[in-house]
Amino acid sequence: MIILGIETSCDETSASIINNNKLISSIVYTHQIHKKYGGVVPELASQEHLNEIIDVIEASLSESKLKIKDIDGIAVTYGPGLMGSLLIGLNFAKAMSLSLDIPFLGINHLEGHLYSNYIENDNILFPHLCLLVSGGHTQLWLVNNYDDFNLLGETIDDAAGEAFDKGARILGLDYPGGPEIDKISKNGDFNFVKFPRPKVKNKPYNFSFSGLKTALLYHFKSLNSNILDENDIANIAASYQEAIIDTLFTGISNVISNHKNIKQIYISGGVASNSRFRQKSKAFEAELDISVIFPKLQYCTDNAAMIAMAGYHKIINGKKSLYDISPVPNLKL
Ligand code: KG4
Ligand code: ZN
Repeated sequence: MIILGIETSCDETSASIINNNKLISSIVYTHQIHKKYGGVVPELASQEHLNEIIDVIEASLSESKLKIKDIDGIAVTYGPGLMGSLLIGLNFAKAMSLSLDIPFLGINHLEGHLYSNYIENDNILFPHLCLLVSGGHTQLWLVNNYDDFNLLGETIDDAAGEAFDKGARILGLDYPGGPEIDKISKNGDFNFVKFPRPKVKNKPYNFSFSGLKTALLYHFKSLNSNILDENDIANIAASYQEAIIDTLFTGISNVISNHKNIKQIYISGGVASNSRFRQKSKAFEAELDISVIFPKLQYCTDNAAMIAMAGYHKIINGKKSLYDISPVPNLKL
């Protein structure tokens, strides 16, 4: 069965093709236009999706060496995300489904991030734990099987990706802030500033990042920003990044100590591309004696491959959406 995945929930226009559980194409076009505004501008994102979607899907077909008539089903993100952006992908999928007379299925973007763990992975063990760390979400999922997962905990305020993005803004770095903090921190001392490792009282699986962001803001304001050089920024960024990562690892460890049957730990979503996070996981893995697995970098940030993967597992079991499905910008999992 050949599934085309389409993802347009935010500022990536992406298409991907899966042939019987095997990824054969993945095209991601990241909108550059938002950089100069320091964040995603929803109207510009919709316009970019509209401009790019045909080219991106054609590029995916061409990479897969398939023809449009070879596609058996379409999986498309219908939420959460930006209304205008979701509309472009969803309507495109509906039109393709109608004209080719094949099923289409709306996929929850967050479930897509859970399925990103299964791309190019033939050693999936259940139950496993998935820490989903993206720009809008920080959640711990106990995954018992495909399509069977329970939320154990999540952030009570900012998501980890948001903490990276807002922190970068405080430090005068570009958007998106995660990759910028990651890059500059490589030259920094992560012990330079003693930032707090926030805990949520009596909720060991929950996270809170807004206090950490405030701690960064106060620390930065207490310094004379005119005399700070790149080295100082690198030290502060590295210390801040370390506090976010340590906090995430603590949440995982709290789950593992109470759920002895968990066989693997997965970390997915944009923040999972962080190089220090990936590096530190080695020691953590040894300490907990359990594998910690990150998807390949290109499947951490938003991509249609994970949407196609989720779609494949569902469409093969006969699931499909009706044509009256609408985008749901605040869709929950
Ligand atoms: O999963 P994603 O691409 O989109 C959402 O579904 O939100 O995640 C985007 C988030 C942004 O906050 C971005 O700053 C963060 O992931 N991010 C990173 C890195 N690359 C992306 N955070 C830390 N280090 C990175 N290397
Ligand atoms: Zn995402």
